[in-house]
Amino acid sequence: MIERILPERVVSAEQFGDVPGATLFPEEETLVARAVAKRRREFTTGRHCARRALGLLGVPPGPILRGDGGAPLWPSGTIGSITHCDGYRAAAVTSKRDVLSLGIDAEPYGPLPADVLDMVASPEEIAALRRLGDGSVDWDKILFSAKESIYKTWFPLTGRWLDFTEASVDIDPSGEFTATLSISDPRMGTDRLTGRWIASDGLVATAVVLPR
Ligand SMILES: CC(C)(COP(=O)(O)OP(=O)(O)OC[C@H]1O[C@@H](n2cnc3c(N)ncnc32)[C@H](O)[C@@H]1OP(=O)(O)O)[C@@H](O)C(=O)NCCC(=O)NCCS
Repeated sequence: MIERILPERVVSAEQFGDVPGATLFPEEETLVARAVAKRRREFTTGRHCARRALGLLGVPPGPILRGDGGAPLWPSGTIGSITHCDGYRAAAVTSKRDVLSLGIDAEPYGPLPADVLDMVASPEEIAALRRLGDGSVDWDKILFSAKESIYKTWFPLTGRWLDFTEASVDIDPSGEFTATLSISDPRMGTDRLTGRWIASDGLVATAVVLPR
């Protein structure tokens, strides 16, 4: 599913459940030593997907530790992103040569609670979602996921928090979206991001790729 919204130069691996027998490196074990079973499972399958995707780039298996703010620390010369939600885990990676940063996110399909929507979207964004119409599509969940992908693209480059109100997202029903950031950072090189979305199999997924 995630492959369908990523450009060719970004490789990915996904699982619609956990992988029996998937293991962590000892250094990774320490990151989830005190975590509950559900968290250990999603972390382990996320790392498993990341190693499979890195393998497609020719990178041998190794520990993927955690950097500041929770972002994964990718092997030298590569960058990527991990997501997990009920029933789905995925990782996307690429060479740093062509891509400055990327973020992926997946969420179970279904409407956002109204109070959450008010926290993550501006009145203008909510009005634009209403104009998209077609009650069969949960545009608000797509908007939320897009903002998570934007944050995962933004943070590894800048090391800064980005609030939901600091990105304005415009969703195109064709499967794309654009975001305009109201704060800028020279490490991003732009305040406009583009991404793609997909809704399938009871899930919504989004991806943002910022070319170098
Ligand atoms: C960090 C955050 C984006 C994770 O998203 P999520 O939907 O809760 O969870 P997901 O399963 O999709 O993603 C979790 C993975 O994201 C990655 N991640 C965590 N923090 C990250 C960060 N600061 N930067 C990049 N990736 C990060 C990790 O790989 C993590 O999995 P792992 O801990 O097993 O390695 C989210 O919890 C958050 O803090 N959001 C608030 C900030 C935000 O979204 N602002 C909106 C700006 S428009």
